[in-house]
Amino acid sequence: MILLTGASGTVGRRTARLLAHEGHAVRLLTRDPARLPEPTARTETVVGDFEEPATLRRALSGVGAALIVTNNPLRPAHDAELITAAARAGVQRLVKLSALGVTDSSADDLITRWQRETEDCVRTSGLEWTLLRPRAFMSNSLGWAPDIRAKGTVSAWPGDAPSACVDPYDIAAVAARALTEPGHASRAYALTGPESLTARQQTAILGTVLGRPLVFREQSREQTRQLLESRYPAPVAQALLEIAERRLLGNGGQVNPTVERLIGRPARSYADWADEHGLYFAPAGRHRQDDA
Ligand SMILES: NC(=O)c1ccc[n+]([C@@H]2O[C@H](COP(=O)([O-])OP(=O)(O)OC[C@H]3O[C@@H](n4cnc5c(N)ncnc54)[C@H](OP(=O)(O)O)[C@@H]3O)[C@@H](O)[C@H]2O)c1
Repeated sequence: MILLTGASGTVGRRTARLLAHEGHAVRLLTRDPARLPEPTARTETVVGDFEEPATLRRALSGVGAALIVTNNPLRPAHDAELITAAARAGVQRLVKLSALGVTDSSADDLITRWQRETEDCVRTSGLEWTLLRPRAFMSNSLGWAPDIRAKGTVSAWPGDAPSACVDPYDIAAVAARALTEPGHASRAYALTGPESLTARQQTAILGTVLGRPLVFREQSREQTRQLLESRYPAPVAQALLEIAERRLLGNGGQVNPTVERLIGRPARSYADWADEHGLYFAPAGRHRQDDA
């Protein structure tokens, strides 16, 4: 049995689909089953919360491999609880979704420090482990959808800093391999897309795919700070601002061949991603992003 945490999220949802398609028995953890797609013959749902260790013990019973996805840098105990519970339950293999920023020695923001700590937690668990370190997800541009739908504009900062952003589908494909195949123990995988793109270039690609020109407006650092603070707790907003600022150094632009090496096909391009998700940006498009 494979347990997926973050099963309703961007990467977990795709990993669930791939594993079920390959015929693996998969258990999906969520706080709210309504957030999950319909179960299949090979998937089961378990209600669990990182805040409630008893629910994790139940979720981990009989599990051989687990995908660890947490998303709250203000709650580092989530990873510790989950990993301790996994070790006690006799899980053999952990695959942890981390972030490529951990390898940047100049990065010292809250989110990166949290990811480094959670990686340490996995590495010292005594279990077999694999770390997935993706660059920014292509799907982050779904955040542009309301402005694109309403005004045909994209506002972002920085506009001209490159990022080798990666399709979450490729992260899920690597996760599925690491969870089910031998040969991935004690490995940390840098996962990028096939090209390095700026927000301005992503906007141009989206415009081409959607068949209507989009206007890119570079936000100021201050506008970005205000926007982040309206959406996240102050320490998280500050960390996201620092991560955005670090892109100006160009460190995020390096393309890495790991995705293709591991899954045997080229990493998907931003144009591929945009083509598949055009519906979310169309004027009368879908407003729910749960399954995007
Ligand atoms: N976005 C990026 O560009 C990027 C880049 C690199 C790395 N990352 C990393 O990717 C990870 C997030 O992955 P994602 O985007 O696939 O996830 P996501 O879409 O943000 O979804 C978060 C998941 O976490 C689950 N969750 C949150 N709190 C929980 C709790 N208390 N108990 C149980 N489950 C809980 C949610 O489940 P329910 O709501 O169903 O309970 C949901 O499935 C983070 O570690 C982030 O740092 C992101």
